Amino acid sequence: MTTIGIIGAGEVGCQIARAALASGYRVVIANSRGPETLAGLIAELGPAARAASAADAATAGDFAVVAVPLKVVNDMPIDELAGKIVLDTNNYMVWRDGHIPVVDSGEKTIHELRQEQLPTSKVAKAFTHIQAPRLLTAARPPGAPDRLALSVSSDFAEAVELVARLYDQFGFDTVDNSPLSESWRTEPGQPAWLRHAWQNRDELARNLSSARRLVHD
Ligand SMILES: NC(=O)c1ccc[n+]([C@@H]2O[C@H](COP(=O)([O-])OP(=O)(O)OC[C@H]3O[C@@H](n4cnc5c(N)ncnc54)[C@H](OP(=O)(O)O)[C@@H]3O)[C@@H](O)[C@H]2O)c1
Repeated sequence: MTTIGIIGAGEVGCQIARAALASGYRVVIANSRGPETLAGLIAELGPAARAASAADAATAGDFAVVAVPLKVVNDMPIDELAGKIVLDTNNYMVWRDGHIPVVDSGEKTIHELRQEQLPTSKVAKAFTHIQAPRLLTAARPPGAPDRLALSVSSDFAEAVELVARLYDQFGFDTVDNSPLSESWRTEPGQPAWLRHAWQNRDELARNLSSARRLVHD
């Protein structure tokens, strides 16, 4: 059985945990306050889930999900995530995160910064333009006419393949928007982000093409 280490037990981390458990994965999930604060969640998720510290979740995972806003001072367990594929759900929200000048200027995407913070991991931007609860309610079987598509961006082909497999298991199609330097095309405010509830594969591909650089002020 494959284990996913999930760092972040907020809206996104919890919904990815639920979707993963429904697809037959084991999950080890962490927040910032310690595993004992997740007892209620683990009771709800059942025996294939356990709570841990972020470092232990990273160690336990065959791959990891980081469902935590990026901070300029890196707070992720770099050594424990080394060599692993890391799915990063982070969106850059200036009102929440403050300004990050290299992102504002368009020099780097927020996910290139995450890749720099985790230099020995294989980072993929994933699950960023769907509201977390819809991971369960919008899931559809392959070929369904109303199946939505989600984008993935990574500098590593094997990370893109893993995310596409996971999306398919969770009930979504994939559009590859690699590499990470292109991942601004799904950032908050872009067509792909604004129209998240209605995009099949063709529509998502069109929305990615029509993205234009945003000014963050
Ligand atoms: N909400 C959505 O629908 C949605 C959809 C797509 C993408 N996103 C993006 O995904 C990211 C997560 O969103 P969210 O809504 O799930 O946020 P959230 O509800 O605020 O949850 C954040 C989680 O991260 C944990 N955390 C923070 N720092 C940590 C650290 N150093 N180690 C371990 N855990 C840490 C928090 O733990 P504590 O509570 O213990 O501090 C909390 O469990 C954000 O960047 C967001 O913009 C959100």
